[in-house]
Amino acid sequence: MNVEFRSSVNSDELAVAAAKLVQEAALAAITEKGCFTLALSGGRTPKKMFEQLVQPQFSNFPWQSVLLFWGDERFVPPEHAESNYRMARVSLLDALPVAPQAVYPVDTMYSSAVEAAEAYETTMRHVFPSEAVQNGWPCFDCILLGLGTDGHTASLFPGTAALEEGFRWASVGHAPDGSQRVTLTLPVLNAAKLAVFLVSGHEKAEIVSTIATGSGEDFPAAKVQAENVIWLLDSAAATACRLAGVCL
Ligand code: 6PG
Repeated sequence: MNVEFRSSVNSDELAVAAAKLVQEAALAAITEKGCFTLALSGGRTPKKMFEQLVQPQFSNFPWQSVLLFWGDERFVPPEHAESNYRMARVSLLDALPVAPQAVYPVDTMYSSAVEAAEAYETTMRHVFPSEAVQNGWPCFDCILLGLGTDGHTASLFPGTAALEEGFRWASVGHAPDGSQRVTLTLPVLNAAKLAVFLVSGHEKAEIVSTIATGSGEDFPAAKVQAENVIWLLDSAAATACRLAGVCL
């Protein structure tokens, strides 16, 4: 596993750096095997990156060969303000000049999050390129991830069953506020070729530094051991790291 920390001056530069990194990974994957499997993260941070991806600078992004999934989704209707799919649709998908080859949002209209997670796994097992399933796990070319101040990533929260799931591709995440989510499981995150953490803001600086110094190994985000893990931070999120002299 290769781990790298990169710092950008601010959240706007971070968004551009993230868009460039994903475009680079997409072009390489598509040149090599004709498609790019990408899982989007949710929350607020990736919105600026999605808005960058629809700018003229990224007009060559090969969306026509991208299979798009979500790393996690809140168990709310697709047009709910909290929906990760809605955020991506409004800030990215509706503005793309070229539609992705395929878009697979989590269907959250089931009567329970358990059914939604099972259905998402069934969909993934059906559509994920079979040549990219290794040792029983889907190997995403790229998974975007965020980081909570409690060290969660995707919807894998500390001390929850989803974090311990070792067989399913998707499970039910339980957030501290009691809300339910559908999330990819840790083995899926770890099977990825590239995991990109996108982290912005002073409030994340401490948890980033704790994980970067290796003293946070119990946090879910620290358990992500994809082939390549790149942490993209803005200067605010990298503050404690720099002070600790551990990265950047
Ligand atoms: C979600 C995310 C979650 C998010 C972090 C950071 O659905 O909320 O997938 O893991 O990435 O909580 O969220 P912010 O970007 O809003 O700080």
